[in-house]
Amino acid sequence: MKEQLEKIRLDAMEALDAVKTSDELEALRVRFLGKKGELTAVLKMMGKLSAEERPIMGQAANNVRAAIEEKLEQTKTALKEKMLEAKLASESVDVTIPGTQLKIGKKHPMYQVLDQIKDIFIGMGFEILEDREVELAEYNFTKLNVEEGHPAREWSDTFYFTEDSSILLRTQTSPMQIHAMETKQLPIRILAPGRVYRKDEVDATHSPMFHQIEGMAIDKNITMADLKGTLNEVVQQLYGEGTVTRFRPHHFPFTEPSCEMDIQCHKCHGKGCPTCKGEGWIEVLGAGMIHPKVLEGCGIDSTVYSGWAFGMGLERLALGHFKISDLRLIFENDVRFLEQF
Ligand code: DAH
Repeated sequence: MKEQLEKIRLDAMEALDAVKTSDELEALRVRFLGKKGELTAVLKMMGKLSAEERPIMGQAANNVRAAIEEKLEQTKTALKEKMLEAKLASESVDVTIPGTQLKIGKKHPMYQVLDQIKDIFIGMGFEILEDREVELAEYNFTKLNVEEGHPAREWSDTFYFTEDSSILLRTQTSPMQIHAMETKQLPIRILAPGRVYRKDEVDATHSPMFHQIEGMAIDKNITMADLKGTLNEVVQQLYGEGTVTRFRPHHFPFTEPSCEMDIQCHKCHGKGCPTCKGEGWIEVLGAGMIHPKVLEGCGIDSTVYSGWAFGMGLERLALGHFKISDLRLIFENDVRFLEQF
């Protein structure tokens, strides 16, 4: 019996040394110490021993059990450590591997120009107004002195929502003048940028949707000199000191007198080159003194107050600013193109 016990001890030690998983460990515990295990089987035979032998063998069996239990415990701890190490190794991070590059976008070139213009006007005390693109014909046309029968009111020029031509996608930012006059306290100084819509086919210089920037100032004693002074200051800040402007007479229904402003070509200084199409000048905006009829229509006494207004195309300005030749590039949102600015 002693030899049997010794064999169990040796077998158990050897088997436990080779254990690789906790399942194997549990199987060995059952095999040696379980109710139907090898050690229990030996103990069951104790009854056949003499009274003198019994306590000696009992002691020996207890020793074997204790040795196996201790070894089981040690193996369990070692297994746990090994598993933790393996887990840590599998989850380790190689900090030397280059990270995934995050693509960070930036502002669209056209909005970069708009931001610059907004900053200049804010610096001069103007308020930025942004508002609806769906407009009443009354505000887009009638209140701006654009009467029934004016070509701009044609179905072929304007996107209408209703059969009676009363609601439309605004064709210009000028209705913002009316909204400002109707809702704001005098004096008023506003800059209103936004989208406008006309039934144009897309080509290098046309799009059915484009952006305008409307500017307006109303106060006592405002004259054409204020308009020219303000716009000249803007142009100096935008294109640099010494940029030359020129004002040509023009006609707009909602201003009187009306004009268009050109800036001298920054490339050829007026001599004529491809940038200015040989003209020497680049047209940038329409402007004028607000028509008394428009002021009165909004309840402003035109004998006390006067004002100027202008409207310019933002795309056109951005094209010139970044020397882009085709309007479509502004809207296509090809990152390879936009990244350059
Ligand atoms: N709204 C005009 C257009 O789309 C541009 C314009 C001209 C705006 C003269 C004005 C202005 O405020 O005074 O062609």
